[in-house]
Parts: sequence; C-alpha cells; structure tokens
Amino acid sequence: MTSEKQIAAETATEYITDGMIVGLGTGSTAEFAVKKIGKLVRSGLSIRGIPTSEITRNIALEEGISLIDFSETMYIDLTIDGADEIDNNLNMIKGGGGALLKEKIVASASKELIIVVSSEKLVENLGNFPLAVEVISFGWEFTFNNLERLGGNPNLRLHHGKPFLTDNGNFIIDCKFNEIKDGIKLEQHLNMIPGVIENGLFLGLCSRMILAKGDKIIMKEKNKI
Ligand code: 5RP
Repeated sequence: MTSEKQIAAETATEYITDGMIVGLGTGSTAEFAVKKIGKLVRSGLSIRGIPTSEITRNIALEEGISLIDFSETMYIDLTIDGADEIDNNLNMIKGGGGALLKEKIVASASKELIIVVSSEKLVENLGNFPLAVEVISFGWEFTFNNLERLGGNPNLRLHHGKPFLTDNGNFIIDCKFNEIKDGIKLEQHLNMIPGVIENGLFLGLCSRMILAKGDKIIMKEKNKI
C-alpha cells in the first residue's frame, strides 16, 4: 500500500511545470517528491533544483536532476518540503532531520512553498515535537543555558554519543516548549540569544499544505489577504 507520505509528496509534484526552479526539501516525505521529480525529468521535464541538504543533494544527483545554487538565482518558483508539525494556520515546526537552516533560506526564497505531510503531522497547537535550534558549537553551553532559562527544556542532539553536526558544521539543541502559544514572540526571543543561528519555527511561509489521510488528499491554502 502506498504510504500517506508518498501520496502527499507525489501529489505536490503535479504543481511543477517546465522551466521551474524547484526547492528540494529534506526528510522521508520530501524524498518521495525528489524521486518522483527524478522520474518526471527522465520523461522530459526540464527543471533546475536547489537542495536543502547534502542528503537531498545526493538523492537528486542520483535521480539525474540538474542542480543550481543562489549564485544563479535570487528566487525559487516552488519548493516541496515536509514538516514535523503543522497547524491549521499552516505554521510549522521543522528541523527533525537537522536541515532547518537551509530549509528556511530556501522556503523564504520560494514564491510557493508546498508542505507535504502524513495525517498525524497536523496538530491543534505546535510544540509537542521538540523544536530544533541550530547553534554555533563555540560556547554552546552558554546558548544551552539561555534556552533553558527561556523554558525550552533543552537537549543537545547526539549522534553515536557525539554532538550531531549539521551540514553547516553546527550543533542542534532540541527544545521542548510543549505548547507554543505565541510563535512570533518565541522566535524573536530565540533569535536574540547569542549563538543561535536558526530555529525550526516556520511561521507564515507555507502557501499550501498537502496532507494525505489514508488514500485521501486534504489540501489547504494560505488565506489570501
Ligand atoms: C528536516 C525536516 C523534515 O521535513 C521533517 O523532519 C519531516 O521529516 P519526515 O518527512 O521524515 O517525517 O524538517 O529538517
């Protein structure tokens, strides 16, 4: 049976048209989209991709997708990415895979950001999933202490007993805020802490959510003002 992740991801690729610059997300859901784009490219679709991680870069190259970077463009037509949590206002927590910094740059440069998720990712309130905060390794203990004082119940992310390193050579501190009532305020506080490079709150960036529930698709677009 096709998984919800695969159904959502492959549906999103229907929004890609010839000539587009496409942001390629990271994670198990986004991977389905990258693989589907690979198939479309092999059938004649012409696009250029910008990957959000080394893992995605390697998958895209294996799939034969042409890649570019920001030296060649200032904008991206469409990005397809996953999320760890998404609420009804299309605000999200991302960064479970540790790619939040590039993901946020790519999302911010995108005219359209389609978020593809399986049904359990839709939540009433953000915050149950630990919020990834990317920090510089120098003085991380000081940054950690500040995150603790902010009520983040921080945890240094480890990999085989050593600090997990992002593609950018930084550490990740996962914070459990439980219920994030005011995401904008929290993001401001986080960004003011010395050593914090980026956080996994993605507010106001998603333009369309494609959620698969069983074999059904639920689509939600950002309210247009
Ligand atoms: C990586 C991410 C991913 O999009 C998020 O963790 C979802 O992953 P998955 O699709 O594997 O559940 O933000 O940094």
